[in-house]
Amino acid sequence: MLENLLRERGLTKIWDSSEICSSDEWEKRRSEILKLLCNEEYGFLPCTPDNLSFEVLEQDNKFCAGKVTLNKVSITAQFGNKRFSFPCWTSIPNGNKKYPFFVFINFRGDIPDKYFPTEEICDNGFAILSFCYEDVTSDDNNFSDGIAGVIYGGKDRKDNDCGKISMWSWAASRVMDYAKTLSNLDLTKAFVVGHSRLGKTALLTGALDARFACAISNDSGCSGAAITRGKRGEKIKDIYNSFPYWFCANYKKYMDNEHNLPFDQHFLLAAIAPRKVYVASAKEDLWADPDSEYLSCVAASEVYEKLGFTGFVHPDRLPNVGDVFHKGNIGYHMRDGLHYLSREDWLHFIAYLKKQFKI
Ligand code: GCU
Repeated sequence: MLENLLRERGLTKIWDSSEICSSDEWEKRRSEILKLLCNEEYGFLPCTPDNLSFEVLEQDNKFCAGKVTLNKVSITAQFGNKRFSFPCWTSIPNGNKKYPFFVFINFRGDIPDKYFPTEEICDNGFAILSFCYEDVTSDDNNFSDGIAGVIYGGKDRKDNDCGKISMWSWAASRVMDYAKTLSNLDLTKAFVVGHSRLGKTALLTGALDARFACAISNDSGCSGAAITRGKRGEKIKDIYNSFPYWFCANYKKYMDNEHNLPFDQHFLLAAIAPRKVYVASAKEDLWADPDSEYLSCVAASEVYEKLGFTGFVHPDRLPNVGDVFHKGNIGYHMRDGLHYLSREDWLHFIAYLKKQFKI
């Protein structure tokens, strides 16, 4: 059944060869895919800073009844004679271990937050490093503030120059740079997470930055996890008209013209392979289109299988509320309810990671 649905959508193949491939061959194809995604959709990321520095601004080692240390840290990137700083918060359990950790791209800096049950995450043995996306650059057409001001400095944006999603993703990688300086984190178990526009950002981050062992997108929808061809709810035309600054200028060529995209969003999921990717959907999130998010997992599975790994383990039907598919390198669940990053979503992410990484 699903094979027919994918055929009807007219998806572009990720890989022409039907044969098993080596990891070197895949890395070559993967870098072509990343170029394509940056060139046509998100824009190329800001250049690497000449220098990075970190400063702990505040510390509370009695957070969560004394179980957790919460620090506020300033991350500063130096580009020639320009500097840019943004705050990040680290919540790390107080035990004597190396903790697996989330880098969480959030809408707010608050801890805990409605999207972010800090104590429960830490009680489950995970640390969490979070930042507020608008501390990196504003969520609007202003390209003169934050990191956008450093990159563009008043210049116009053109063609494949980065949009805001790329900049938020850049910041998630800088948080990973900071994580590398901490001795109580397990760097082999780093997971990037985001919801909605920040779920799109988490997927891009996972694709571009191989230090993340899993990228988790919640309700990321259009230009995130969801297949664009044949998608219901939000289409490229809607998203580009409302949020042109999230993307590069080239993306507008595909408004009402999805069939000419030289890829579809399953390429983004596959670009994370052989590392893991997780897609979470909510039944009533029709704007994001849960069926299209699910079909993307089905289509991306091909790459894992050609590499000799388990891809997406699922039945041959569309998803239902309560489906939890945690057996493969592509993890998935669909819960009831609306567009939201709920505690229920976090508990599924945690269960998947515990199972897959033997945490
Ligand atoms: C809008 C947008 C979505 C996006 C969402 C969000 O609804 O159309 O693409 O995911 O905002 O980020 O909350």
